[in-house]
Amino acid sequence: MAAETQSWVLMATARAPTNIAVIKYWGKRDEALILPINDSISVTLDPDHLSATTTVAVSPSFKQDRMWLNGKEISLSGGRYQNCLREIRKRAGDVEDEKKGIRIKKEDWEKMHLHIASYNNFPTAAGLASSAAGFACLVFTLAKLMNVKEEHGDLSAIARQGSGSACRSMYGGFVKWTMGNDADGSDSIAVQLASNTHWDDLVIIIAVVSSKQKETSSTTGMRESVETSPLLEYRAKTVVPNRVLQMEEAIKSRDFASLARLTCADSNQFHAVCLDTSPPIFYMNDTSHRIISLVERWNRSEGSLQVAYTFDAGPNAVLIAPNRKVAGLLLQRLLFQFPPPPESELASYILGDKSILHEAG
Ligand code: ADP
Ligand code: DP6
Ligand code: CO
Repeated sequence: MAAETQSWVLMATARAPTNIAVIKYWGKRDEALILPINDSISVTLDPDHLSATTTVAVSPSFKQDRMWLNGKEISLSGGRYQNCLREIRKRAGDVEDEKKGIRIKKEDWEKMHLHIASYNNFPTAAGLASSAAGFACLVFTLAKLMNVKEEHGDLSAIARQGSGSACRSMYGGFVKWTMGNDADGSDSIAVQLASNTHWDDLVIIIAVVSSKQKETSSTTGMRESVETSPLLEYRAKTVVPNRVLQMEEAIKSRDFASLARLTCADSNQFHAVCLDTSPPIFYMNDTSHRIISLVERWNRSEGSLQVAYTFDAGPNAVLIAPNRKVAGLLLQRLLFQFPPPPESELASYILGDKSILHEAG
């Protein structure tokens, strides 16, 4: 390694979007490797709105690996961060920066320490899949800095070991995480079903009901469901395999009514599993329930599915509209039922192509 005495810093920065599952992952068959009990399908959001941005720096002056999340130092001692760091270091390549006179050989990465800073531009640990954006971004940025040549699919298997849902954020558009069969998890990877231009008209609206950190993390919640919910086994073995096939077909043929029907049904069954867990887990709150009622009433009055809703492990609603016109009508209805307080800082709307962020209730 050159530049033994002087202090230099080499950095890489990347951004990764979050993804929202339309067929949910809930339950692991292997906790350490993060292998799921069913396939899942998600849509990756536009990175302009909900994303993690991570910078990784390496320097001979760093004495240990350290990480800051949203400006606060966090411990890297958990198995998930260690697994991602180890897997990427194993695959690291030679790196040269001629201008700075830096040369890092691939075997040197084992001894070099990293400083990592990540920032989420949306609520962390509030059920908007921050772990998905965060670990996808971490793995991608590490791979960039360390000149890792692996394909996206292989990187997704590493991101999966940080947080299961993270493997799906390695791709844009609609993405499937295949549960796989191999004991080492090498076939438990993400595959892109359709690119982000395949179904351009779709609009996703995020209604932020609460940006507070949830009481039960996804990891703990799903562990308790696996241990205690009889409904979960039925869901994973009998319901999800058929739904995954139907969802793939709906995506391929841009069939909004089927996408909406399957998405709402799967969200509701996931929350039914949470209630079936002992002690029960309540991720949704009264505002979430009022949003479901609003959409259900509207869909019924029109005689066809106008809008789909889905809730991850938190109270925040993700609403999917078939086009901008329906999205506009939906926003009007949401604002009528949940008028933002005039002086509130929270009454900020981020209007974009794919998502609209609003603190409701
Ligand atoms: P969420 O619903 O937001 O995904 P989880 O309970 O699944 O909530 O995961 C939250 C955890 O994910 C955080 O406590 C943190 O450990 C990790 N995480 C969130 N954002 C990042 C990030 N940008 N970089 C690394 N890890 C992150
Ligand atoms: C409800 O991926 O956050 O959002 O693998 O333990 O990190 P860990 O859990 P995580 O769980 C996500 C659960 C979900 C559904 C989904 O994203 O598929
Ligand atoms: Co998560």
